Amino acid sequence: MTFVDDYLPSLGPDDADITSHDAYTSGVPHATFLRLRTTDPVHWTEEADGSGFWSILRYDDALEVSRDVETFTSSKGIRLEEMDAEETEARLTMMELDPPDHTRYRRLVSKGFTRRSVESYEDAIRDLAAEVIDAALGHDHFDFVHAIAEQLPMRMLGRLLGTSDEDGHKLVAWGDALLGNTDPEFTDYPVDLTDTEAFRMVPFRSPASIQIFSYAQEQAEKRRGCPGHDVISQLLEPARDGVPLTDHEFNNFFTLLVAAGNDTTRYTMTHGLWTMMNHPELWTAWKADPSLTPTAVEEILRTSAVTMHFRRTATRDVELRGKRIREGDKVVIWFNSANHDEERFEHPFRFDLARAQNDHMSFGRNGPHLCLGAWLARMEVRLVFEELMKRVERFEPDGEIAHLRSNFIAGIKHLPVKVVR
Ligand code: HEM
Repeated sequence: MTFVDDYLPSLGPDDADITSHDAYTSGVPHATFLRLRTTDPVHWTEEADGSGFWSILRYDDALEVSRDVETFTSSKGIRLEEMDAEETEARLTMMELDPPDHTRYRRLVSKGFTRRSVESYEDAIRDLAAEVIDAALGHDHFDFVHAIAEQLPMRMLGRLLGTSDEDGHKLVAWGDALLGNTDPEFTDYPVDLTDTEAFRMVPFRSPASIQIFSYAQEQAEKRRGCPGHDVISQLLEPARDGVPLTDHEFNNFFTLLVAAGNDTTRYTMTHGLWTMMNHPELWTAWKADPSLTPTAVEEILRTSAVTMHFRRTATRDVELRGKRIREGDKVVIWFNSANHDEERFEHPFRFDLARAQNDHMSFGRNGPHLCLGAWLARMEVRLVFEELMKRVERFEPDGEIAHLRSNFIAGIKHLPVKVVR
């Protein structure tokens, strides 16, 4: 059997406040998204400290909003947080650009992240995965997130960027402080619980960004005049007809990579293992049939949907499913809801290692901002499971798991496991 129905232990409450970071500390409130998706798929939410926003909950609408960049701009911010023009300008990355500006920027950075380019690192990344897994397996009980999932993505990305392995821990801690900027475990400055006014001009309103900027500049300095074959060198010395990134653009892009390339892949692996610990028959079926790997990885990606949303802003009045969206309204695409849309996916709460039709939206879809790291993330998840399955009979739960406090990133931040050899 390649599937289980109801793969989640619970769909959570059906009346959660989807804007509240605390609403996600027991897991994603899928029952709330399910209710909204089926009763009010373009849903308006008032905000205590914001203008309010529309939620896009159905797959087809999510595709349409991603595609129509003229009506739904990224340039006014891509998360719920509202920023003034000065902040937006200071924190600008490619994510907050629309075509054609976005196209120029993306062309500059995309070379190092194509499928072919990423696959050329496969052996090195597999060795790294094996090394980290072997070290963790020196113990019978450990936190999978800390011992394995957290170690790999940043060090793997480091291989592409050409940063040293020893700097991996530092980059992981900074990356955690960025995407975990609402969780007191990862930052002394959770944005909604402390005064972060002093950091309003840096990415994620996080002091970690300031440290990353200075690290990025050191890395750039090292390569100027002495470029290597890494992605940073490519960025600093673009093709003859390309316009290089300014220092400011480079710093913000480097920070974006540290944020985007770290926790997302970590939490995807963790969600996958957690599901398989809850349903050991899935692990057994996959281990017995490695040909399931490509579809199994996509199913892990669909069900985990770690980046739960991104936002756009309407540039004109527009109607969607009978709702009048006004110019200037915030419009939030919920990828986690689109991935569980019963109009798109048969049995959306079935976890099927062999799911044939699986055009999930975990990396976005149909728009210019489709995740730059998608091929890297896919490969990392695949290699980790391949190397784990070679070495371990199975994993068993060994204590309580903990979820990230965030309405943005669906993360399991601790997953205690017992190894069965
Ligand atoms: C499983 C892991 C990952 C998930 C779930 C994920 C998810 C996403 C999503 C949903 C978007 C926005 C799509 C849109 O708005 O249409 C995005 C964009 C992006 N991601 Fe990822 N990501 C992952 C891994 C990575 C990695 C490993 C990297 C870096 C190496 C990365 C770098 C980026 C960048 C730079 C963008 C912005 C692209 C643009 O604006 O053109 N991501 N990602």
